[in-house]
Amino acid sequence: MNRKLVRTGDGSHTIFVPELGEHYHSIHGAVQESEHIYIRTGFLYSEKNPVRVLEYGMGTGLNVLLTYIHASRTDRKVHYHTVEKYPVTSAEKDLLNLSELSGCDDPAIFDRIHGCAWNVEVKLSDTFCLYKEKADFRLAAPGSGFDVIYFDAFAPEVQPGLWSAEMFSRVFALAAPGAVLTTYSARGQVRRHLNAAGFTTEKLPGPPGKREITRAVKKFS
Ligand SMILES: C[S@@+](CC[C@H](N)C(=O)[O-])C[C@H]1O[C@@H](n2cnc3c(N)ncnc32)[C@H](O)[C@@H]1O
Repeated sequence: MNRKLVRTGDGSHTIFVPELGEHYHSIHGAVQESEHIYIRTGFLYSEKNPVRVLEYGMGTGLNVLLTYIHASRTDRKVHYHTVEKYPVTSAEKDLLNLSELSGCDDPAIFDRIHGCAWNVEVKLSDTFCLYKEKADFRLAAPGSGFDVIYFDAFAPEVQPGLWSAEMFSRVFALAAPGAVLTTYSARGQVRRHLNAAGFTTEKLPGPPGKREITRAVKKFS
């Protein structure tokens, strides 16, 4: 897959896939978007500790890095499982300025996130375990009991099969009672599929350049 490095509105990098016409993040600001949608609306909204996080689409590793930073600041213990079929290469990773622009005080962490082995659990610190699963979203087997889910596939217009009712039913089964799922898409069809799977959804204001985003909760029954 051909990929290009792009600088976004807040100065942080993202990746563009010309073949799909898709960016990995908002062109208005990659760090700004991830902080808003995945960290504040998802990770910090959940009060679970220890917390099990599941991500669909590791991409640049920005969400892993930001979660690591915020978990350290808030003293939370994290098991982070991320699924990715097309990992960025080491050469691509070296060009990204995400470690510098994310407020990380340990530059080695971003390298370790990318450099650690796939399909095994790795301890990044005493309180943060990372499992990178190299798999297609539809075939992933991440286990269950997740408290926070970052749903970060390419857009539904581009990959409709990854935003299907069937996919969200599978995700619902992996979620713990009380779990929160966040995604940048606020499309009606996406919310209907999430609701049909059993989630309760709400639209929330998005980051700059995006009017609305979705938060879905698996209510305690
Ligand atoms: C929007 S980007 C994710 C951005 C990422 N969260 C980050 O912080 O950089 C979508 C990701 O999904 C991955 N992807 C696309 N189709 C996939 C599939 N069928 N199974 C697994 N991963 C897929 C892409 O390679 C890309 O990394």
